[in-house]
Amino acid sequence: MEKLLGWIDDRFPLSKMFKEHLSEYYAPKNFNFWYFFGSLAILVLVNQLVTGIWLAMFYTPSAAGAFSSVEYIMRDVHYGWVLRYLHSTGASFFFIVIYLHMFRALLYGSYKKPRELLWIFGMCLFVLLMAEAFMGYLLPWGQMSYWGAQVIISLFGAIPKVGPHLVEFLRGDYTVSGATLNRFYALHVIAIPLMMLFMVLIHILALHHVGSNNPDGVEIKKNKGADGKPVDGIPFHPYYTVKDIFGVAVFLFIFCFVVFFKPEMGGYFLEHANFLPANPLSTPAHIAPVWYFTPFYAMLRAVPNKLAGVLIMGAAIVVMFFLPWLDKSPVKSIRYRGYATKVMLALFTISFLILAYLGAESVTPGRTIAARICTLMYFAFFLLMPIYTKLEKTKPEPTRVTS
Ligand code: HEM
Repeated sequence: MEKLLGWIDDRFPLSKMFKEHLSEYYAPKNFNFWYFFGSLAILVLVNQLVTGIWLAMFYTPSAAGAFSSVEYIMRDVHYGWVLRYLHSTGASFFFIVIYLHMFRALLYGSYKKPRELLWIFGMCLFVLLMAEAFMGYLLPWGQMSYWGAQVIISLFGAIPKVGPHLVEFLRGDYTVSGATLNRFYALHVIAIPLMMLFMVLIHILALHHVGSNNPDGVEIKKNKGADGKPVDGIPFHPYYTVKDIFGVAVFLFIFCFVVFFKPEMGGYFLEHANFLPANPLSTPAHIAPVWYFTPFYAMLRAVPNKLAGVLIMGAAIVVMFFLPWLDKSPVKSIRYRGYATKVMLALFTISFLILAYLGAESVTPGRTIAARICTLMYFAFFLLMPIYTKLEKTKPEPTRVTS
């Protein structure tokens, strides 16, 4: 084995890469629960890629064949039902994992200097993930696939002048049709996954360049021992590989429970209307996107003007890119911040959850008012951040990690 490794190392930096990124990558020793979700995101991504490839072997990307090919996968293909549920449940779990991963960054200020680019790469991944999920949802060609795509694509029509042309360009037709399905299929199975893989690579490279943050927000690189290694760091392998494997095991219990016992999750993971084939002549009474889009959908519906609604929804995502520059706090972690940040983060989280609920429900005057208040809260968190993070009194950040 040693000889073989030597042979490979003379031709490819295998051992060097293993050392740099695993056995000699020093990570802070105080990682907690919130640090499981990066590796889990990789796991879910791999699950989506592998099950996606197998689904593509049996799926027919045409308006005439798509719906029945999914039924064929569910009923006739050996273990086809497992492949499909692993993929559809994987989509929802991807968002659960990513939302928790992003929330961790908010808790510990992981987007702050020197991790701004790491955050931006992460945000690009989030946008790609949303595009990937949106296009994937059209493929089963059910009622909600069809009408969901119809509603979202038509939003672009609100843009003055170019809107109607843009809508036609995106659909590739005068209505959502087989042409739309074909282009979404191409983007869903190859273009976006390739971009995601590339972004994950540079996300991790950026992380390993600057080093991981931690629940105390202490830069461990600033405190090195006589051996030149950070005193508050431990090698990623074996310490965190073992921790992450434990996380994977627990995650798989929960994930498999849903796959085998609750794959539709009461209509939240697979909507009921999507078990009916797409019918361009019959609009469902209640069109709602899958749960992970509902916070943004609720914001869109909260604004009476269509164009303004589209702009607000877009701004809700764009504003997150600027987080590293909106946060003026001298400390990173929530542990050492003042009350203002804690209260604002709590209100932001509650508003986001309420918006998620409202976006899945039908519209009533009361719900519209609630959605407006929560949208204001969402933006207040970001836009007032330069003020409250500057004015609040923070506790001094320790020089060494605690616990
Ligand atoms: C496919 C999606 C993604 C994958 C596979 C991924 C993977 C990872 C991994 C493996 C880590 C290191 C382990 C950890 O800190 O948990 C990490 C760290 C990080 N990620 Fe992601 N990530 C993804 C999406 C995102 C998104 C959407 C954001 C935010 C916009 C983000 C922001 C960060 C930040 C700020 C860190 C450093 C955290 C720290 O050191 O405290 N990532 N990511």
